[in-house]
Amino acid sequence: MSNILITGGAGFIGRHVARALLARGDKVRLYDALIAQVHSGAADAPPNGAELVVGDIRDAARLREALAGVDKVIHLAAEVGVGQSMYAIDRYVGANDLGTAVLLQALTSTPVARVVVASSMSIYGEGLYRDAEGRPVEEVSREGARPGHWDLPDLTPAPTPESKRPNLASVYALTKFVQERLTLSVCAAYGMEAVALRLFNVYGPGQALSNPYTGVLAIFASRLLNGRPPLVFEDGLQQRDFVHVSDVAAAFLAALDAPQAAGQVYNIGSGERRTILDVARTLAQAMARPEIAPELTEKCRAGDIRHCFADISKAKAELGFTPRVEFSDGLAELVDWLRAQSAVDGAEEARRELEARGLVA
Ligand SMILES: NC(=O)c1ccc[n+]([C@@H]2O[C@H](COP(=O)([O-])OP(=O)(O)OC[C@H]3O[C@@H](n4cnc5c(N)ncnc54)[C@H](O)[C@@H]3O)[C@@H](O)[C@H]2O)c1
Repeated sequence: MSNILITGGAGFIGRHVARALLARGDKVRLYDALIAQVHSGAADAPPNGAELVVGDIRDAARLREALAGVDKVIHLAAEVGVGQSMYAIDRYVGANDLGTAVLLQALTSTPVARVVVASSMSIYGEGLYRDAEGRPVEEVSREGARPGHWDLPDLTPAPTPESKRPNLASVYALTKFVQERLTLSVCAAYGMEAVALRLFNVYGPGQALSNPYTGVLAIFASRLLNGRPPLVFEDGLQQRDFVHVSDVAAAFLAALDAPQAAGQVYNIGSGERRTILDVARTLAQAMARPEIAPELTEKCRAGDIRHCFADISKAKAELGFTPRVEFSDGLAELVDWLRAQSAVDGAEEARRELEARGLVA
């Protein structure tokens, strides 16, 4: 039995990880500021059996208290949202990067055996492409993107491995990369093990429905629950990788323990690609609202990417990671959970915030 501290543990992924740890007999402490954007709706309560310490990740004194007796840390606390990060810059850099710095500073005097940090697929920018001869292409520009020309000419999207060069196209991506690198380098210097999981699009019951800045399935579900069409940027044919939150929780448990994971980064996705348009339509059908067709904005958000989906072979080989939840089953479970939820639909307001700042073209 280990004592595990989960920062951001009252959030969507944190609650699932906590439940999985408790089920295998670990002791779990959650450290979370319960920020209003995530916790103002009817979010699920932290799981029974987990201790909750309410505090900001930048509050060094409170954090040090919460670290007492802890063996390993899972660091999830973060402001989460690509579009919003482009105008709430100080808020994102403060919580994500200064927050990680304060955590690591505290760990230098109260070391733990291992830290697992949540990184993000957003650090890749565009995923890997291949040219007509099948050669990998890592550096691409979306400068010419416009209606009818959203795709990159002469290039085919391909599964993205961890070795792909990062392309930090948004403030959020930058902050996630800093979280990842700070954790790996500081832990190595102080004799602690560190692992970074680059999560792709995580979905499942318990996603914050009233946060219009992150979680495309939750955003679409909030629209549909309110009888409105999902707002789909560009032409909807951008491809992503949706991974179920229970598979992500299993990946965190493996990353806490696997000896060879120390110092490594892993993609955690389903390994399958889907278009956003297909996801919007499938969700409307699953929610018994097939008559609500998605609304295509034919506009592109600043910092947004066209295609990115995971090559998960490294996590399979080294963590024993196997995504178990089929998308159709995961969606059915999400829809079951949604039946008991109400959601404030903030998607229009979120779009207006971006447009007012010239961040949609
Ligand atoms: N959900 C996804 O698809 C996804 C994809 C890639 C990476 N991630 C990463 O996974 C982690 C968890 O994401 P999530 O989807 O559960 O998000 P979430 O918003 O549900 O959870 C984040 C939690 O962090 C807390 N938090 C925010 N700022 C804080 C601060 N200053 N101090 C203390 N706590 C604070 C929030 O209250 C919230 O409970 C994040 O680091 C996120 O960047 C998520």
